[in-house]
Amino acid sequence: MINIRCETLPDYTVIAEVNTLAFGQENEAKLVDEIRGSDRYIPELSLVAEVENVIVGHILFSYIDLVGEETLQLLGLAPLAVHPQFQRQGIGNALIKAGLEIAEVKKEAIVIVLGHPHFYTRFGFQSSVVYEIESPFPVPEDVFMVKPLQSYQKRYKGKVVYPPAFHEV
Ligand SMILES: CC(C)(COP(=O)(O)OP(=O)(O)OC[C@H]1O[C@@H](n2cnc3c(N)ncnc32)[C@H](O)[C@@H]1OP(=O)(O)O)[C@@H](O)C(=O)NCCC(=O)NCCS
Repeated sequence: MINIRCETLPDYTVIAEVNTLAFGQENEAKLVDEIRGSDRYIPELSLVAEVENVIVGHILFSYIDLVGEETLQLLGLAPLAVHPQFQRQGIGNALIKAGLEIAEVKKEAIVIVLGHPHFYTRFGFQSSVVYEIESPFPVPEDVFMVKPLQSYQKRYKGKVVYPPAFHEV
């Protein structure tokens, strides 16, 4: 049984441990801290997955900019981490689905992710070029992906700009 809920302050240490173990480095745990300390943090979109009351997964969505004719806000999905001993059991899947549902309720327009196409296309993510959305870094087209939500409109196009929290990690 997987329980998904919002993070609370006492969870921060375990969330950092799960990120460090999943990625094999501390950058993503630091990124989570930086985002929490910034104006881009969305408390209801920092979710933990628990198995038997122990946190084994975490996902964070935060605001990033889309700069085109106008500057709009999008959700960036990063990071997503599942404890190595609990991977491939549907926990990452459950965290993404829960986050996307909350994003829909909040009437967000788009979620951006940089990740494995094999994993993310099943949730409706597609290469950002399909939506005329450009990555800020030179990465292969298929790894920089966009998921339009119900509030998506065609005016959401341009270049993605990550806020300072992302530059420092
Ligand atoms: C990627 C990750 C979040 C997936 O979480 P999970 O709970 O293992 O995923 P689920 O059990 O819900 O889904 C399993 C699917 O994820 C895919 N997957 C898991 N890890 C993967 C990886 N490193 N590369 C590519 N695909 C991966 C599997 O192929 C599997 O798909 P399949 O069933 O078609 O084989 C997790 O493996 C993880 O924390 N990895 C290390 C950190 C990381 O890379 N995070 C960033 C993701 S962009």
